[in-house]
Amino acid sequence: MTQQKARHVPVLFQDALDFLCVRPEGTYVDCTLGLAGHAEGMMRRLGPGGRLIGFDRDPEALELATARLVKVAEEMGSQAPQLTLVGEAFSRIGGHVDAASVDGLLADFGVNSLHFDEARRGFSFQADGPLDMRMDTRTGPTAEQVVNEMEERELANLIYEYGEERRSRTVARAIVRGRPITTTMQLARIVASAVPPIKYMHPATRTFQALRIYVNRELEEIKELFEAAPKLLKPSARLAVISFHSLEDRIAKDSLRDGAKNGIWSIVTKKPLVADEEEIGRNPRSRSAKLRVAERQAIGTRH
Ligand SMILES: C[S@@+](CC[C@H](N)C(=O)[O-])C[C@H]1O[C@@H](n2cnc3c(N)ncnc32)[C@H](O)[C@@H]1O
Repeated sequence: MTQQKARHVPVLFQDALDFLCVRPEGTYVDCTLGLAGHAEGMMRRLGPGGRLIGFDRDPEALELATARLVKVAEEMGSQAPQLTLVGEAFSRIGGHVDAASVDGLLADFGVNSLHFDEARRGFSFQADGPLDMRMDTRTGPTAEQVVNEMEERELANLIYEYGEERRSRTVARAIVRGRPITTTMQLARIVASAVPPIKYMHPATRTFQALRIYVNRELEEIKELFEAAPKLLKPSARLAVISFHSLEDRIAKDSLRDGAKNGIWSIVTKKPLVADEEEIGRNPRSRSAKLRVAERQAIGTRH
């Protein structure tokens, strides 16, 4: 993999780090290391008494993140914080992080640039690759198994729910007729022949989103993180989450609102923060990003 391909520009970088209010001696968790842009920013704000714990369930991303952060640690020398990197899903955070030990937690949901840039990962319909789409390549199922084995009605429901695709039944029917399907381009062609594009969006965009979310249990993972986080954060510690589509943001918004009612969270960003024109110009991916921040309330530790 080339250096250029491995680039991933962190979104809302400054805002996320500023809102986390990183203290040099604190313990911070990056739930989604990716290529470690945010993590490097956190690490550089920490001192020798501090600790950074990072998670990524994608073994390739974890390897790149580790290489980057180890280099930063070497550069920082005796001033470097303690570093713990974990190759697991963030839903497992409770098994790796002590209760009430965290001063700040960041989660930047979704995919990293490797997922789309590397055709062999099977996320993109712009380049042909095996229909995989797993972030964690150690466990199944792949998107190929889903499109070839799932019953038509269930497939239609999945595409409707996770892709917000109103033409899901037509798409599911075309998929079932087009089986066996083994590559990303083959699937994209089948979907494109069944439904026309909407505005400038490729007709398969929503179907690919749905499969990706399903294969990676993305929404369940986010819900489980919101359940675990209150137990791990110290009173007044902050949670910052960046979402990229409405399904993710809805979970974040509802979890924080419900938590606020129950005395768990105090919401810091009444409205989510979004990227400004300058950032969108530099990094088009930031166009759909939303940052929500909340503070763990001191009361309500019963939760
Ligand atoms: C948007 S990228 C993070 C980018 C990162 N903030 C940076 O600055 O490079 C999201 C990353 O989270 C990982 N990821 C997504 N869901 C995850 C989960 N449930 N558990 C652990 N890692 C996950 C993906 O593999 C991906 O590398």
